[in-house]
Amino acid sequence: MEVIKYAFEPHGDDRGQLVAIEAQLDIPFEVRRVYYIYDTLAGVRRGFHAHQDLEQILVCVHGSCKIHLDNGYETAEVVLDKPHEGLYISNDMWREMYDFSPDAVLLVLASRHYDEADYIRDYEVFLKMVHDKETNQ
Ligand code: TYD
Repeated sequence: MEVIKYAFEPHGDDRGQLVAIEAQLDIPFEVRRVYYIYDTLAGVRRGFHAHQDLEQILVCVHGSCKIHLDNGYETAEVVLDKPHEGLYISNDMWREMYDFSPDAVLLVLASRHYDEADYIRDYEVFLKMVHDKETNQ
């Protein structure tokens, strides 16, 4: 599976680092929502869903975590441990987040407002949906 990562430019100087992410310039969509996950307890695995119509960029702005991706055919494990690196996740991609370091802050930029109806939370339903789409192409 092709894992799409964005390398953002750290504007470092003798004061420290600054990263800017501009919608539709540094990432391919307009940002309508930002959320972040932190204080994740040891051993927690979360996510366990896909979206029908949502693009996201995940940036572990502090600490580290891992992302399990599954497109219904292939899987990938992605380490996020750099505040200047973003993982792009489009629709129809099952994701799970795990191995959060105690200090991890996972920032998510999303193309749409929160909409529970957009979630696919049943893995079997997800598999059927992507396989049906492939068959009907
Ligand atoms: P949840 O979907 O369980 O997180 P994960 O992506 O790790 O599976 O979300 C946790 C709670 O936060 C749940 O009550 C829904 C709420 N929430 C919002 O209100 N807005 C959001 O943008 C997100 C992502 C979640």
